[in-house]
Amino acid sequence: MGQGVLTAGFPRVDGALHAEGVPLARIAAEVGTPAFVYSAALVRDRYRALDAALAAVPHRIHYTLKANSNRALLGVLRELGCGVDVVSGGELHRALRAGFAGGDIIFGGVGKTDEELREALETGVALINVESEAEVRALGRLAGALGVEARISLRVNPEVTVDAAHHYIKTGERGHKFGIPFDDALHVARVAAGLPGVVLAGLDMHLGSMLTHVEPYRAGAARLAALCGQIRDAGITTLRHLDVGGGLSVRYADETPIDLAEFAAVVQPVVQATGLALIVEPGRFIVGNAGVLLTRVLYRKHSGGKEYVVADAGMTELLRPSYYNAYHRIEMVEAAGPRGLMNVVGPVCESGDFLALDRDMDDPPAGAVLAVFDAGAYGSVMGSNYNSRRRPAEVLVDGDRFAVVVARESYDDLVRREVDQPDWRQ
Ligand code: LLP
Repeated sequence: MGQGVLTAGFPRVDGALHAEGVPLARIAAEVGTPAFVYSAALVRDRYRALDAALAAVPHRIHYTLKANSNRALLGVLRELGCGVDVVSGGELHRALRAGFAGGDIIFGGVGKTDEELREALETGVALINVESEAEVRALGRLAGALGVEARISLRVNPEVTVDAAHHYIKTGERGHKFGIPFDDALHVARVAAGLPGVVLAGLDMHLGSMLTHVEPYRAGAARLAALCGQIRDAGITTLRHLDVGGGLSVRYADETPIDLAEFAAVVQPVVQATGLALIVEPGRFIVGNAGVLLTRVLYRKHSGGKEYVVADAGMTELLRPSYYNAYHRIEMVEAAGPRGLMNVVGPVCESGDFLALDRDMDDPPAGAVLAVFDAGAYGSVMGSNYNSRRRPAEVLVDGDRFAVVVARESYDDLVRREVDQPDWRQ
């Protein structure tokens, strides 16, 4: 069944690239560049495909906001019954503004402040994924002070070796900063069960991102299931959820992403054997392919035998190429002409500011609009204002309609937090 994608989110019609039914050239002309453009249909497809694949077990998909926290996209997912996974007070705030209720929200993260934990408790989130014994104790104290119950999952480091595309996006190997070391988990479960105001409701792991094989899920889920058995043997009967995290891959170039049926076949029996409900926390899988970055070619340049395409977007809009050496396909929005070996670079004053190096692609003239594909996940959220660049507009397409859902930043936005007269303290 592959990844079950029904919609060509960005089809080419008579040579012109579209987002669903809307020509991307029209969006570039009316909204300007750079701009992110998202396909609502593709997001819906991905959610429904995963939901259907997991139908054999009680489950809930908690979309991970860190991949893309655009409120309009969150609205699309909320309408489908999706939950969310947040990792900061800021993401919690965004989730609530997008209309999610406490019961839809999982709060995770390796370093939560007391303030953030308090906000999560006051919101009545479904689960807080805790990553250490000290955090369990802090939650017991904070929940007691607030007179509420803290429903927690233990985020356990499953200590499984994975094959993620880049070292930075592995999280569940032995010695990583994330999660409770596997051998300590039973002890922390006992501590949690003994604290008034704390309910140990789940076990959680996250192996890493952009995983292309299902084996780590099999191994990790099995470890969680074994831990579940040990916790029950210790007389603790409150477990309800088993969360296998995110990490499902998408196609950027010629990768073979994880087959959903295979993923389900690996995870479901383990979950069934425990009698717990399954939680998944996908980010990239839901939105990765559902966004493009539109950028206009400002200049062409030939230097030292190289062809440069100087675009109006770069590392400040899409950091992935320069940070992870990640591949994002780039095509002209209008019918392409000749091809060549291009270096697509941004306007930022850094040699590391590029979208593609030595890439065989369209040979675009100055003025052409380019689509940088698969920029829906870890695109806008990892953007910055470096060089005092204004953050781009974001557009949602749904069928034949489009709307600007995040306005391009203004110059005033850039200086809004600066004080005119410093209020000196001595
Ligand atoms: N759950 C937890 C606890 C996570 O840390 C993450 C991602 C996810 C779920 C969602 O993972 P996904 O399904 O999106 O793979 N900036 C990097 C990716 C960082 C992923 C961080 N954690 C990139 O651009 O490739």
